[in-house]
Amino acid sequence: MLEVLSVASEAFPLIKTGGLADVVGALPAALAPHGVSMRTLLPGYPKVMAGLEGGRELSVLDNFFGGSARLVAGRAGGIDIIALDAPHLYDRPGSPYLNPSGVDWSDNWQRYAALSFAAYELGRGLVEGYQPQILHCHDWQAGLVPAYVRYNAPIPAKTVLTVHNIAFQGLFGWEIFNGLRLDFRAAGEQSIEYYGRISYLKAGLQTADALTTVSPTYASEIRTAAFGMGLEGLLRARADSLHGILNGIDTGEWDPAHDEKLVQGYSVATIADRQRNKDALCARFGIAPGKGPMFAVVSRLTWQKGLDLLLPLCDSLVAQGATLVVLGSGEPGLEAGFRAAAERHPGRIGVQIGYDEAVSHLIQGGADVMLVPSRFEPCGLTQLYGLRYGCVPLVSRTGGLADTVIDANAAAVEAGVATGVVFAPVDQDALDEALRRTIALYERPGVWQKMQRRGMKSDVSWAASAEKYADLYRDLLGIERDADFDD
Ligand code: ADP
Ligand code: GLC
Repeated sequence: MLEVLSVASEAFPLIKTGGLADVVGALPAALAPHGVSMRTLLPGYPKVMAGLEGGRELSVLDNFFGGSARLVAGRAGGIDIIALDAPHLYDRPGSPYLNPSGVDWSDNWQRYAALSFAAYELGRGLVEGYQPQILHCHDWQAGLVPAYVRYNAPIPAKTVLTVHNIAFQGLFGWEIFNGLRLDFRAAGEQSIEYYGRISYLKAGLQTADALTTVSPTYASEIRTAAFGMGLEGLLRARADSLHGILNGIDTGEWDPAHDEKLVQGYSVATIADRQRNKDALCARFGIAPGKGPMFAVVSRLTWQKGLDLLLPLCDSLVAQGATLVVLGSGEPGLEAGFRAAAERHPGRIGVQIGYDEAVSHLIQGGADVMLVPSRFEPCGLTQLYGLRYGCVPLVSRTGGLADTVIDANAAAVEAGVATGVVFAPVDQDALDEALRRTIALYERPGVWQKMQRRGMKSDVSWAASAEKYADLYRDLLGIERDADFDD
């Protein structure tokens, strides 16, 4: 078995603020059939320490980034976890990243440098009998790992950095440098510097042995000025090392036939049973059942997600006979905007501000359309859940959305390949037109149901992508592909 240490700031089911957690939580099981044994290093937030089963101390780290820390191994949700138990850094309530006022913790630089340094130490063979061959780092929170490997004492492990979202770059002032435990040579080079500051993401992008991102289209997009957020030049220079590997979903956790968070399970053959979930959803969100489609949003409410474009279209949606449910939290302006829309349209628009895993499943299992009008979307998981649950995705043509949904234009409907509605450019007029087109499709039940069924049958599993990660690890290590792991 190939030993891989996955390093991330969140993993389902222990701690989740978005799709990163779903992916990090799903990778170990997805990779196991490909001969990969994966452990996951997480910060020891309260939820992580509380959720760890069979915790066993691996090592004590004295004087570790401002306090004493331990590495604790255990299991959760079927995955092998190593928690960095450092109460001075992580024993805080609420969001992993924000203080109770909604502002980044001022010591985030130290909290995630510590996580990365712990990964480096494990890669150095800190724990007897455990030698990871690959350190697989996710996003800026683990971006310093490859920099430690490059500039500090060399270690046997290779590094992979996966970009889940290039908008988050881990930017800090140079005054932190001495606290990073990064060899001083790093300061003299361009690697970690980004427009006069330190960027953890850029550090990783410069120094990792291989780079991946979560869809082929996003892998192309981030090499352009429109999407690269200033890192496009570097990504063009490293294009040969950059791979777009599409996310899959955990088809056990997200299975409409056996989902305990639904009122009624169903499959392609019993799709009419979705109605019971829709009824429950209507009751929960105070929606009066009607004829038109029920649109749904399950999302962080941020600029990325393009939901400000939807807000002004709410009245027209309702006028066309549709209903809307929104589950999300984020920017106060968007939260207030959706609340106001619900107040204007009681019984037609329902809004729940906050985070609710169970309700997110019920929405996928009961609503008709999953709305994802993102300005950019590295992969996107809610449209994949939508496909699997017969909640037809309406998405913008960007990133992973473009790679996973086939637009129901006349030719695609005729050819029997459509799985949703795709629009471009990402502006209000195009979204308006897409909403109208979706409502018209919904009025043709034969076409609609075929589209739902096709989506439910499409392959959104990890199978193909897990093999790509396993191949990448082996390529880095110069290991021939083992025929045993080809199936
Ligand atoms: P991102 O990671 O950019 O937020 P993704 O589509 O990749 O977007 O993943 C979002 C994940 O978070 C999905 O699992 C989705 O169901 C979940 N999610 C988002 N908002 C909420 C919410 N308010 N309540 C429950 N789950 C949510
Ligand atoms: C990020 C992206 C999202 C992606 C997720 C998991 O949060 O915004 O598009 O699906 O990571 O890779």
